Amino acid sequence: MLKRPVIIDTDPGVDDTIAIMLANAHPELDIKAITPVTGNVPYKYTSENALRLVKYLEMDCPVTNGAVNPLFIKCEDAGSVHGKGGLGGYELPPSDKTFEGYAWDIIKEEAIKADGELEIITLGPLTNIAITLLRYPEIKPLIKRIVCMGGSQYDGNVTPKAEFNFWVDPDAVDIVFRSGVPIVMCGLDSTEHAYLTIDELKALQGRDTKVKELFDHIMSFMIGRREAATEDDKLQTIYDAITIAYVLDPSIGKTEKHSVLVETKGINKGWTIIDRRNRAGNPLNVEVLTWADRDKFKAMLEEMLEYYKN
Ligand code: BDR
Ligand code: CA
Repeated sequence: MLKRPVIIDTDPGVDDTIAIMLANAHPELDIKAITPVTGNVPYKYTSENALRLVKYLEMDCPVTNGAVNPLFIKCEDAGSVHGKGGLGGYELPPSDKTFEGYAWDIIKEEAIKADGELEIITLGPLTNIAITLLRYPEIKPLIKRIVCMGGSQYDGNVTPKAEFNFWVDPDAVDIVFRSGVPIVMCGLDSTEHAYLTIDELKALQGRDTKVKELFDHIMSFMIGRREAATEDDKLQTIYDAITIAYVLDPSIGKTEKHSVLVETKGINKGWTIIDRRNRAGNPLNVEVLTWADRDKFKAMLEEMLEYYKN
């Protein structure tokens, strides 16, 4: 099988965890490294969660050091959304692994080794990727594409216009989006087409798998959050996992190529401005996911649980 070299840049995070489980269940992805970044919870937790998760899932790849803070602005997290420690209060067993090198150095090395084939999947703020592109601009032509979970076509989840990952470090998004590297943006409201209902989350629980404890805990955490939500907010999107699903099977989504800029300052910081009529005449720099197929996504989660079956 021809394997696809990928780097997963992430801030685990409950949905990041399901995303990494999904990626690991597909041998066609050759995961070269997990590069943690600050985001959902402070860096000491996202990095430790990444290290422990790699051990828990018996993955054979390094976990690097990464960015502890956004590039220029103060760090703000989403601890209330991801629970204590970032995994909904679940504590993974300690890992005997240690952090290896720095995200930007490993990405550079892997981009050179893969000679144009490296795909970077980002599930958190883009800080590590911006640092990589600033430090090593010569590798830009060697990156096949960057597929990111972040931004939104229309509305945000932190402010009316900004999605969390891009709101945390909008300057990093600006650097990445202007870099000339091909980008796919799996944004908030597009991935939300592939929502799960509370009953569908419940139906995924209780399977006899190697990841049962962690997986079921995260499902319960998500169910609890949705049950406590208002009537019009009962649907759960596993944002980061849908991004991985798109990487694995692009037929899960629809995309359109547009020029996209990000607002870096003020009350709209993190807003991804999609110039659908290309009024500004800028390059069409981003493939924007506009829709995701929830039946296909659900089927992929079922397949994933089969992969981990005892
Ligand atoms: C994104 O923000 C984080 O809280 C999730 O892990 C996901 O990457 C959704 O806005
Ligand atoms: Ca995330």
